Amino acid sequence: MVDSQVTTRGPGRSPTTAELTFVQGRRVGRLATVGEGGIPSVVPICYAVIHYDGEPVVVSALDEKPKHVPLRDLARVRNILRRPKVSMVVDDYHEDWRALTFTRLSGKAEIIEPDHGLHAVGITALRAKYPQYERMAINAAPLIAIRQLRATSWHGGKTGPSPVEPFAQPGATELAALVRGRRSVRSFQSRSVPRNIIEQAIAAAGWAPSPHGRQPWRFAVIEAPERRASLAAAMAESWQTQLELDGQTPEIVRVRLDKSRQRLRDAPILIVPCLYLAELDHYPDPARQEAERIMAIQSLGAAIQNLLLSIHAAGLDAGWMCAPLFCPELVRDELGLEAALIPHALIPVGYAAKDPARRGRLPLASLIVNWE
Ligand SMILES: Cc1cc2nc3c(=O)[nH]c(=O)nc-3n(C[C@H](O)[C@H](O)[C@H](O)COP(=O)(O)O)c2cc1C
Repeated sequence: MVDSQVTTRGPGRSPTTAELTFVQGRRVGRLATVGEGGIPSVVPICYAVIHYDGEPVVVSALDEKPKHVPLRDLARVRNILRRPKVSMVVDDYHEDWRALTFTRLSGKAEIIEPDHGLHAVGITALRAKYPQYERMAINAAPLIAIRQLRATSWHGGKTGPSPVEPFAQPGATELAALVRGRRSVRSFQSRSVPRNIIEQAIAAAGWAPSPHGRQPWRFAVIEAPERRASLAAAMAESWQTQLELDGQTPEIVRVRLDKSRQRLRDAPILIVPCLYLAELDHYPDPARQEAERIMAIQSLGAAIQNLLLSIHAAGLDAGWMCAPLFCPELVRDELGLEAALIPHALIPVGYAAKDPARRGRLPLASLIVNWE
């Protein structure tokens, strides 16, 4: 433990609530420590902001991510023990540079052992923020805590001391980052997905707008590897017939089927969003009946977007496969679902095997066709 009398001087002021909310809302920070001979060292860290002993504190676990040296020999730990003054930067990048934002927190870092009261509070906060920590024994290892925090912020060319613009609405910046950060992922690691993340995502789907508020959708979750493999095999057979009907060469048919089967086998979880029309209104005329069905499909899309954003917010990835639309009865039978459920999509969920290409988007001016 380091000398608790060391105080932090230098630039900055006490962080505002809005700044702390901004920092807590980001998922990665860059921690700078000073090494031997004054050589700076910067590492990315996962962290949480807690309140302890009447002051805000940043905590970061010494966790089980692959490390080459024992935890206590990590450069950041050795540096902190020698020189506890540290800084960390948390930022939001936007292509629109008027929206660039960062907060720098400086303070005094300590290595907190598991028997310290702050340790349990820190572990709880870290596990609440990063579900990945639920399965790691971070409670047995020391924590880094940064106290006596001083803050400096910058947004779109403006610096503090007063809270800068986006911090007034931390939710808005967070939402923008989530919406822009989501991407369709098509290949996954075999790492399993915590059950609560899937439950939270389906609960988020449930908050989507829906016609008459009837929520005309349900979700089937497929986790067992043999169930994923048999669904993949059944769908591949149906798709093979369709590709052959389209006149594709046997080689192309083989490659596309292999890819599709692999995607379903590798993703640790598959979610099948189904349309559920049984509780919607019934009309005597086909036009209104069709409008009712279309509203349900529109609403299913909104529910899937909530699902995808929730998965992304938890630090995982997902894709969107339309394949069940082309063989809904087959998927329904394969999964043993009731007749009223119409499988509409397949959402593979997991941790991305590689960083997928990001698609650009149309400029705003192309999206708004009229504004009078
Ligand atoms: C209704 C719908 C069906 C889709 N079906 C597939 C699909 O079958 N296979 C696939 O790889 N991606 C599918 N996608 C994902 C799109 O290709 C993807 O959203 C688009 O390329 C934009 O990329 P992004 O999601 O990474 O931003 C589908 C998306 C939607 C909305």
